[in-house]
Amino acid sequence: MEVMPDLSRTTRHALQEAILQPRFYTTDFDEIDRLGIAHMQDEFEWTLGQFANDYNKGHFVRNEEFEANFDDMPERSTFIDFLERSCTAEFSGCLLYAEMYKHLHDPTLRTIFKYMSRDEGRHAGFLNKSMRDLNVALDLGMLQTRKQYTHFKPKFIYYATYLSEKIGYARYITIYRHLQQHPQDIIHPIFKWFEQWCNDEYRHGEFFALLMRSQPELLRGANVRWIRFFLLAVYATMYLNDARRADFYAALGLDWRQYDQDVIRLTNRIVTQVFPVSLPIDNPKFYQHLDACVAYDRQMQALARRKDPLALAQQARLRAAIGARLATVYMMKPVPTTRENRWPGLAGFPHYRPLTAGEGVVV
Ligand SMILES: [Fe+2]
Ligand SMILES: [Fe+2]
Repeated sequence: MEVMPDLSRTTRHALQEAILQPRFYTTDFDEIDRLGIAHMQDEFEWTLGQFANDYNKGHFVRNEEFEANFDDMPERSTFIDFLERSCTAEFSGCLLYAEMYKHLHDPTLRTIFKYMSRDEGRHAGFLNKSMRDLNVALDLGMLQTRKQYTHFKPKFIYYATYLSEKIGYARYITIYRHLQQHPQDIIHPIFKWFEQWCNDEYRHGEFFALLMRSQPELLRGANVRWIRFFLLAVYATMYLNDARRADFYAALGLDWRQYDQDVIRLTNRIVTQVFPVSLPIDNPKFYQHLDACVAYDRQMQALARRKDPLALAQQARLRAAIGARLATVYMMKPVPTTRENRWPGLAGFPHYRPLTAGEGVVV
C-alpha cells in the first residue's frame, strides 16, 4: 500500500477505495455537450432561475452553538465517520458539477452546473468546519488530486446522480423531522441545518429529472433495466452501510433499519416523477433478501481481520451470497409508474408551470 505520511488519518481513510465508499466520478463530457435541450428551453430556463435565486445564500452560517466543546458528545467517532462520508460525497458532487461547467458549451446547462457546484461546495465546507471543530482534518484539496476517479458513461451519471440527490434529500429530511419530534436526541447543532439544506439536494434532483425527461430514450427500452439496476444499487449500498453504523443512528434515537426503510420508501415514491418503474419494496421478499445481505455482511466483517485461507474462502463465499441475493431482488417484478401512483411533487416546493393561453399577456 502507498505510504502517505503527510496526510492526516482521516484524509487517508477517505482515500481508501472500497466498494461501499463515496466515489469521485468523471465522464464523457463531449457526449454530454452534444445533448439537445432546445425543445424544453423554457423549463430549463425556469430551473436556472431557481438556482440563480440562491435560496440558501444566507443559510450556512454557524452560530454560537458550534462553539461548544464536543469532546464528550455521544458516538463522537461514528459521528466523525458520518461527517467524513457526507463531506466526501458533497465534495464529489462539487467537483463533478464544476467539471461540467468547465467542459460544456450550452450557456443554460453550464450555468446550472455552476450553481449546483456552488451549493455542493458550500455543503462540503460546512461539514468540513464541523470536522475541524472536532480536531479532525479532511484536506479537500488533497482528496481532489489523490482520490481515484470512477469513469461512468453519461447516462449512468444521470441515473446515479439523480438518485443520490433524491436519496440525499430523503436522508436529511427524515433525520431532521425525527429530531424535530425528539429534540433531546440532537447530539450536534449541524442537524438543525438539514431542513433547508435538503431542499438544495431536492432541487439538484429536479434538474436531473428534467434532463432525463428531455432525452426520453433514457427512460425506455433496455435502459429501464439500467434504471432498476441503479435503484437497487443505491438502496442496497445505503442499507449495508447504515447497518454497519447502527450505533450512530441509535445515538440519534433512530433504529437504522426503520430509518433506511423510511428513506427508501420516500425515495421510491419520488423517483416515479421520472422513472417508468420503481422497486417492489412492499413485497416482503424485498427486505428479506436485503436483511440476508446484512447478515452475510456482518459475518464478513467478523472475518475481516483474519487472513488465513479458510477465512478468505469464507469471505468469498459470503460475497457471492450477497451478489446472489441482490441478483434475486433485481429480478423481482418492478412496480410500473402510473398516473395514480406518480409522485405529485413536493408540497410547498416551487414547480415549473407552463403559461397557458391568455396568461402572461399584458393587457
Ligand atoms: Fe449537497
Ligand atoms: Fe446535491
